[in-house]
Amino acid sequence: MSVKLNDRYVQGFVAEDEIRKISHIAEASFGLVRNGTGAGSDFLRWLDLPVSYDREEFTRIKKAAKRIQKNCDVFVVIGIGGSYLGTRAAIEFIRSPLYNNLPKETPDIYFAGNSVSPSALSDVLRICEGKDICVNVISKSGTTTEPAVAFRVFREMLEKKYGEEGARERIFVTTDRKKGKLREFSESKGYETFVVPDGVGGRYSVLSAVGLLPIAVAGCDISKMLAGAKAARTAYTKKFSMDNDCVRYAAIRNILYNKGKVIEVLVSYEPALQMMCEWWKQLFGESEGKDGKSLYPSSMIFSTDLHSLGQYIQDGMRTMFETVIEIKNASDKVKIPNDPENIDGLNFLSGKDLSFVNDMAMKGTLLAHNDGGVANLVVEVEDRSEYSFGYLVYFFELACAISGYMMGVNPFDQPGVEAYKKNMYALLGKPGYEDHRKALNKKLK
Ligand code: PA5
Repeated sequence: MSVKLNDRYVQGFVAEDEIRKISHIAEASFGLVRNGTGAGSDFLRWLDLPVSYDREEFTRIKKAAKRIQKNCDVFVVIGIGGSYLGTRAAIEFIRSPLYNNLPKETPDIYFAGNSVSPSALSDVLRICEGKDICVNVISKSGTTTEPAVAFRVFREMLEKKYGEEGARERIFVTTDRKKGKLREFSESKGYETFVVPDGVGGRYSVLSAVGLLPIAVAGCDISKMLAGAKAARTAYTKKFSMDNDCVRYAAIRNILYNKGKVIEVLVSYEPALQMMCEWWKQLFGESEGKDGKSLYPSSMIFSTDLHSLGQYIQDGMRTMFETVIEIKNASDKVKIPNDPENIDGLNFLSGKDLSFVNDMAMKGTLLAHNDGGVANLVVEVEDRSEYSFGYLVYFFELACAISGYMMGVNPFDQPGVEAYKKNMYALLGKPGYEDHRKALNKKLK
């Protein structure tokens, strides 16, 4: 098993009896997911993606990735939210957050269209100067402002540089199978297209073409990633009981929430998991944060953040618990050298591997935070392989769906995201928003 839940450091905060008492709700919530009988059940296709993906498209993804690797120095991935976070999480988890700087035979990968900052976009454009470029625009709706603007800019740049014909070979589009302007436009232009599958919301889409194409370009083995997700599906979708780690994780976080622990901090001791944490925040935040309810999903990288937020966690308001992702087998070894002068007093560590220090930092912190009144769940992950990534993604996706139903919300919609868009469109002068614009301008005066 690539992923295992260890609840030993929760035992002082949640009694086995409390878990037993809530088990019927957790199991019933799992039933809603598995049987497709809960709210938003049109969006459950991700459950079976690891076994029912489109084989023809999968082969095309691998071929396109090879072509992209051969034809460009810089690959620009345009998308936001669910069309961005999982991809970046995978590349950093499996390869490195310093992927672009490390020696490799695959193109540099930059992300654009995940904000409307002119500086952020200009920086990527500057990086592209004098280089060969390919672009993958990912947008299910095709009309999301951030990626749509970035795509306009990059399309213009590619067409100027390579002409329309040349640009066609370098633009790859991932969007809805049938609907939307981007689909229509891509077909009229003759771009190679991939599909955001029906019934898969953005935040559940990393194991579809949304993530698979850019992840394959980064040189990761996407077959192994799907194999990991498939193994997780086998492990987690059969057992409805509390010894199913997905159900148990959902139940324990729900109990903690009901005890006033309203902040969940996802912690990793690997900076390579920072973007995985961002992906997880969207998954849980967008799935559960509605109807005035929900845990607030937060994240930290230790030991880095122990030197900034460690004080708060140890002694601040007792409203949080931590979920620690423990990578059992570090990808790299760094031996600590001996120093004859022992200026830092650390010669007792000479010859030891740095992963030993990381491990002891984790164990020491778990115990200290427990003593400070902070419950800790530990999600043990075998390693940073493609297989483990796929497994972990599936674990969190299923746990999140169960947890959402336990909270009594629809885990698959995101009505709240529309509020800022409506205001932004009105203020930008989008036709059809005139009255709303007037109302906003009054408030802004
Ligand atoms: O999870 C979601 O549904 C969102 O985060 C979307 O992925 C995000 O808003 C981007 O939407 P689109 O892919 O339509 O551009």
